[in-house]
Amino acid sequence: MVRNEKMSSAELERQRGFMNKVREINEEFYNKKGRRKKMHITTFGCQMNAHDSEKLHGMLIKMGYEPAEDEKDADFVIYNTCCVRENAENKVYGNLGYLKHQKKRNPYLKIALCGCMMQQETVLQTIKEKYRHVDIVFGTFNIYKLAELIYINHETNAPVFDIWKEHGEIVEDLPSVRHFKYKASVNIMFGCNNFCSYCIVPYVRGRERSRCSEDILDEIKALAKDGVKEVMLLGQNVNSYGKGLDENITFAQLLRKVNEIEGIERIRFMTSHPKDLSDELIYAIRDCKKVCNHIHLPVQAGNNEILMNMNRKYTKEQYLALVDKIRAEIPDIAVTTDIIVGFPGEDDACVDDTIDVINKARFNGAFTFIYSKRTGTPAASMEQVSEQDAKRNFNRVLDALNPVILQLNKEKVGKVYKVLAEDVSSDAEFITGRLEDNSLVHFRGDESMLGEMLDIKITDCKTFYLIGERI
Ligand code: SAH
Ligand code: SF4
Ligand code: F3S
Repeated sequence: MVRNEKMSSAELERQRGFMNKVREINEEFYNKKGRRKKMHITTFGCQMNAHDSEKLHGMLIKMGYEPAEDEKDADFVIYNTCCVRENAENKVYGNLGYLKHQKKRNPYLKIALCGCMMQQETVLQTIKEKYRHVDIVFGTFNIYKLAELIYINHETNAPVFDIWKEHGEIVEDLPSVRHFKYKASVNIMFGCNNFCSYCIVPYVRGRERSRCSEDILDEIKALAKDGVKEVMLLGQNVNSYGKGLDENITFAQLLRKVNEIEGIERIRFMTSHPKDLSDELIYAIRDCKKVCNHIHLPVQAGNNEILMNMNRKYTKEQYLALVDKIRAEIPDIAVTTDIIVGFPGEDDACVDDTIDVINKARFNGAFTFIYSKRTGTPAASMEQVSEQDAKRNFNRVLDALNPVILQLNKEKVGKVYKVLAEDVSSDAEFITGRLEDNSLVHFRGDESMLGEMLDIKITDCKTFYLIGERI
């Protein structure tokens, strides 16, 4: 298989042909029934999946489907699945049970499953045996084939399974519908080579491969022309961006190039692995005006033996030294993290080390997870800790984190920050936006403010958000 080579334009043309064919089928349906087929996508998991769903959405619109507000009203339902933790998988099975009844009510309903969970052989077996009402199943490497699979399913009226074990060429130029008008995600790389011992991602997303910088920059320029002000550069480990490409480029160099693009006001990225975060990258964040003062730097655990068994390739001391170095160069940077509690062998004393890291690194935010055993990963065959101990330690970690986060938020009260107005809150009178450091802020306002960079004075705070007013 050719690495890092783009999909041939002939194949893309072929897929456009299938999109047109499905469009014709849907047009026929409209002529007969007087209504258009509706589609609904549910996304589980991370921003990679969310971004893939934007592509699925774009392709379905091209095929003539209309978005349904509610899954109940849809004729085409897709679940873009995640398998990073067991509860994400259980939700999918639960929903599928419910969809079986929906199919009785709507004979036109088609059900498609895709995403990370589908890359596992055991899941495919379960679906074939127990969820026979599923029509189309595909994986993480071939989402661009959606139209073709819909067409085959329509012609054969039989379930279609198309799962690739490995990645093919990187597919450029898929139609895509953005979730937000003013901010957009951009893949800079796919896959992961790190094989942290608890993690399934490398098995379901394949080996690491970078997109060439010209394609990335062109995509961002087009987004800027379309009104996008903030881009999020996505990769499982952005620090290794550029490896394996013909061109000679690092992530720091890419950031500097994106920083030059007119119209873009904010640049974010995730995720950085602490093991290979370079000084060059710290300087790029410091020097580039548009690159936000925020770094998401998952620590996962604080105990050195646990870190070693997790295959994270750094120690607690190295991690803390790195945070110090980043804060020394960029004093107002926000550092956020991911923490796993209950990894095999993690006892109370190990968790004390995690709590020590929390107090020393003073995280501005954290995603915390209870360890979930993933079949096929090395950690699955290590000695597991009891659910009870994991839960108790999980609460200890939260009790340590929350006061730190609240304190850092309190320090913002009374100060004025630039905020990008992103969304209307559920109660309509409030707008939600983000500070450069990624903190969420709610303030009184209206829809006309969306997409504006506003001066907001912080008046109050909670652990998970700030409250402000426009000045
Ligand atoms: N590539 C990113 C993370 C992707 S997965 C990185 O390494 O930073 C997002 C988070 O899910 C991880 O950071 C980890 O905290 C959590 N996670 C991954 N596997 C898990 C598992 N088996 N159980 C619980 N949490 C897990
Ligand atoms: Fe998973 Fe580790 Fe890769 Fe992140 S870096 S996706 S945690 S294997
Ligand atoms: Fe993301 Fe879940 Fe896949 S976290 S990469 S959607 S397993």
